[in-house]
Amino acid sequence: MQSTEKIAEVRQIIQKAREKGRKIALVPTMGYLHEGHVALVAEAKKAEAMVVMSIFVNPLQFGPNEDYERYPRDLERDARMAEAAGVDLLFHPKAKAMYPEAMLATVQVGVMENVLCGGSRPGHFRGVATVVSKLFHIVQPDLAFFGLKDYQQYRILKKMVMDLNFPIEVIGVPTVREVDGLAKSSRNVYLSPKERAEAVVLYQSLGEAAAAIRDGQKDPRKIEKLIRSRVDETSGRLDYVEVRAASDLTNVEWIDRSVVIAVAVYFSSTRLIDNLVVQA
Ligand code: PAJ
Repeated sequence: MQSTEKIAEVRQIIQKAREKGRKIALVPTMGYLHEGHVALVAEAKKAEAMVVMSIFVNPLQFGPNEDYERYPRDLERDARMAEAAGVDLLFHPKAKAMYPEAMLATVQVGVMENVLCGGSRPGHFRGVATVVSKLFHIVQPDLAFFGLKDYQQYRILKKMVMDLNFPIEVIGVPTVREVDGLAKSSRNVYLSPKERAEAVVLYQSLGEAAAAIRDGQKDPRKIEKLIRSRVDETSGRLDYVEVRAASDLTNVEWIDRSVVIAVAVYFSSTRLIDNLVVQA
């Protein structure tokens, strides 16, 4: 596995691979890798492309009171995991290299940014869309892989790529879970043992809600209420639960199309998210 923090070096390595006719697949991450990230690499390997993983804790997507400083970091461990997973090139730039001066040009994706996680984290998706655009310009991949665990992020990036004509195929990869169903996340390490046990409520209540929809429940408010009452049984504090159109995240008054049920819950100051898509 090659590894570099230098943008210019990434460009050189990629150019050489391209000259040999190789396709390029990009897996953007913020590191502290787990099986969710590894699943993205496994999907990228299937494309028989050169797999580039970026590891960059992007300051632009963290709010002033969020966990940018304490976000878990361990580049040595990540490099070992990335190599074992089959990554060909690891790109781990410093913040100074990505943001040498204050940004004036940024990427926004309109109303899709302000709902769900965007409501609780103002500016977050602008930070995500901007850094992913930068990574796309640096690496110039043919394919890019994102987890469906961050469903809103996936939808926003798909829309960005379409609206701005990035010649890149964005591929969504199903959520990888712990045995009890909790979605794998770099932030799970913040949970106390009690909170870790309770955190399964996200997945369980989503499952119950999806079953209710399949049994004929069409009222999104009833679905949201079901999840709210399950979360209320734990020490978790519900940030939001919403049923929205799976295609563009708009409001639904009645569940008559494919929807995403999205939920965010705080355990102490740790914010966990999860979602399920229920096909029409
Ligand atoms: P990060 O949280 O490190 O996640 C990197 C990628 O891994 C994202 O596409 C995310 O959806 C995916 N992922 C995380 N947990 C997963 C799981 N349990 N199953 C499947 N995929 C999972 O998301 C980001 O970083 C950043 O916002 C980024 C896109 C890198 C931009 O900074």
